[in-house]
Amino acid sequence: MDLFEYQARDLFAAHGVPVLPAEIATSPEAARAAAQALRGTVVVKAQVKTGGRGKAGGVRLARTPKEAEAHAAAILGSDINGHTVRTVMVAEAASIAEEYYFSVLLDRANRGYLAMASREGGMDIERLAVERPEALARVRVDALEGIDAAKAAEIVAVAGLPAEVADAVAAVIVTIWGVFTAEDATLVEINPLVRTTDGAIIALDGKVTLDDNATFRHHEHERYVDHSATDPLEAKAVERGLNYVKLDGSVGVIGNGAGLVMSTLDVVARAGEAHGGVRPANFLDIGGGASAEVMADGLDIILNDPQVRSVFVNVFGGITACDAVAGGIVRALGLLGERNDKITRPVVVRLDGNNADLGRKILSEADLPHLEQADTMDGGASRAAELAARKA
Ligand SMILES: Nc1ncnc2c1ncn2[C@@H]1O[C@H](COP(=O)(O)OP(=O)(O)O)[C@@H](O)[C@H]1O
Ligand SMILES: [Mg+2]
Repeated sequence: MDLFEYQARDLFAAHGVPVLPAEIATSPEAARAAAQALRGTVVVKAQVKTGGRGKAGGVRLARTPKEAEAHAAAILGSDINGHTVRTVMVAEAASIAEEYYFSVLLDRANRGYLAMASREGGMDIERLAVERPEALARVRVDALEGIDAAKAAEIVAVAGLPAEVADAVAAVIVTIWGVFTAEDATLVEINPLVRTTDGAIIALDGKVTLDDNATFRHHEHERYVDHSATDPLEAKAVERGLNYVKLDGSVGVIGNGAGLVMSTLDVVARAGEAHGGVRPANFLDIGGGASAEVMADGLDIILNDPQVRSVFVNVFGGITACDAVAGGIVRALGLLGERNDKITRPVVVRLDGNNADLGRKILSEADLPHLEQADTMDGGASRAAELAARKA
């Protein structure tokens, strides 16, 4: 889960990472009041989960509360790199002398963590990373040893930070490592980490990704969940205990078992190349059981996705044999027909494995108008892709 900047700032403050006073606002008037309370010059910052806000006009300096109100009015509701701004953060403005970069992230390939630092932080860090990668220091962090004072000093030295800030920045890095471990983050990025004209080191921006696998020991992280951003179909799937992930294509995919569904996505994407680049619309694993109810729930969710033009049901019969699955599909389509009348998109079914013949017979005898059968996985994927392209 990615946090908004203001949430990252709150976490930093709670763990002792130096940040500036700030308040959030969802209306221009509230931004004005926040600026009034903060006194002096402030920055009004769009709270969207994307970088490059500064360049997109989402970070603006305001010398008076009135100016803060005007900036908030311009930023709220606007689009920043495809994200609509619902909240702004009004923060005290720093008098910046230098901008540095620091991040620490999970480094799966190396079974550890990676710290990155640069004395040339700020809004051009992406370009720096590409054009002069040597200016962005990368230091491996051992998973068990972490970042202590000595490691932080090493990072600061490799990054070539100025001697006069080395100790202060190293101390902040140790504190950031504390945030990273205590909160079970997979990424903490501070860009810029600044030196102010009066010599203080302050985190002016924060990007934090929390590890969803650690939610069980961080019930307090629930408050960071942005329910307004959850896809309604994904929410419905979670409610019904289904393993569903929405994708952006047009072929709905249902299978039993995560491995089979993953390979079905690949096969559909490959088959789709021959039909103008048709792609899978979702991942949906109905698991081993594949009862009529689960199948009905799955089809219901997929057919409620307006992007879906065809559905490919790919089932390998195991403990639950194909005849039971076929019975489930027939009853599922019946159930859905009763619930409402939206089975107007073609459903291609491929059954293989235990009792496949019996399953196919059940499906043909049911004689369902929108259902077709395929003998092979490739054949089914290709037919579903063709049908999706035709309807598009
Ligand atoms: N509180 C602040 N005071 C002064 N300048 C700021 C402040 N916050 C951000 N800035 C300036 O705006 C730039 C962009 O802001 P930042 O929060 O890093 O957004 P983004 O990374 O999305 O562009 C920073 O590099 C910094 O120069
Ligand atoms: Mg930034």
